[in-house]
Amino acid sequence: PSKIILDCDPGHDDAIALLLAHGSPEIELLAVTTVVGNQTLEKVTRNALSVAKVAGLTGVPFAAGCARPLVRPIEVAPDIHGDSGLDGPVLPEPELALDERHAVDLIIETVMAHEPGTVTLVPTGGLTNIALAARKEPRIVSRVKEVVLMGGGYHEGNWSATSEFNIIIDPEAAHIVFNESWPLTMVGLDLTHQALATPDVVERIRAIGTAPSRFVVELLEFFGQSYEEAQGFTSPPVHDPCAVARVIDPSVMTVRRAPLDVELSGTLTLGMTVADFRRPAPEDCTTSVAVELDHERFWSLIVDALERIGEP
Ligand code: BDR
Ligand code: CA
Repeated sequence: PSKIILDCDPGHDDAIALLLAHGSPEIELLAVTTVVGNQTLEKVTRNALSVAKVAGLTGVPFAAGCARPLVRPIEVAPDIHGDSGLDGPVLPEPELALDERHAVDLIIETVMAHEPGTVTLVPTGGLTNIALAARKEPRIVSRVKEVVLMGGGYHEGNWSATSEFNIIIDPEAAHIVFNESWPLTMVGLDLTHQALATPDVVERIRAIGTAPSRFVVELLEFFGQSYEEAQGFTSPPVHDPCAVARVIDPSVMTVRRAPLDVELSGTLTLGMTVADFRRPAPEDCTTSVAVELDHERFWSLIVDALERIGEP
C-alpha cells in the first residue's frame, strides 16, 4: 500500500476523503493533520476526530496545524459546509485524543522517519501546513514521494473567476508548495467537477446500509443542497477524495504533465493556478494536472472502502 499523510480541513468532501483513505487496502494512513480552511482550525479539527469516531479509526496520529493563512486573513466557507464545517449529520463526540505535536512537526517527523521516496502528501485544504513544513525542514522535499493535492484548476475557478478555494485562501503557501522540486499532481476543479455525487451514486452508498454509509449519505445530502444553492450544481462535486483515489489507483484519472505556478500579484487572477500547456513539456517538469476522471471507477473505490469499513 501507499503511505500517505492526509492534510485536510473537514469539510464534507475531506471527511469522505478520510473515509476512503481509511477503508482502502491500497493506503496506509500514517497521519492526519488539520488546517484552517472550510472552517476555523478548532472546528475542522473536531470534525476530523468525529469522522475518525464514525469510521472506527484508531492508531493513527491526528494533529492540528495552522489556525490562519501565512499572509491573508482567514476566509471560511459556511455557504458550502455550514456553520460547523460539517453540517448535516449528527457529529459524534470524538474519542481519539489529538497528538500533542503541531501538524507541521508531525508531517516533518513522519516524512523523516520513513524511507526516502515512500511517503505521499495528500493535501485537501489550504497549503499553509505543507508550505511551512517545507520551509522548516527543507530535507522533506526530496524525501517525499509525491504531493497529490486537491486544489486549483487550469480552466475553472470557484472562489473567483480564475481561482479555487484551497489556493486562494492561502496563495502564498500554494506558491511555495507548487515551486518546490517534489513531484506534484494538481487534482483541480477541471477534474473534480466530474466527480459528481449523482442520485444513483447516493443510492449505491445508501444501499450499503451501515452507520458510516448513512453518515456519508447525510453529508452528501447537505453538500448537494449547498452546492445547488451556492453554485447551481444539480449534483455536488466531491472534490477531495479524488486526490486520494489518484494515489489508490492512478488509472482512475488521466493527467497531463505541465509546468504550474500560482498567481500572487494579479488583480483579477490572485490565486490562479497557471498551467503552461505549450509542447513539449520541459524535461525537468515535475508537475502534472488531472484531466479526466473515470466516474464509475472513482465511486466504486468509495463504495468498496465503505463496505470494508463496515459497521465499526
Ligand atoms: C475545495 O474547497 C473546499 O471547500 C473543499 O473541501 C475542497 O477541498 C474545493 O474547492
Ligand atoms: Ca477540503
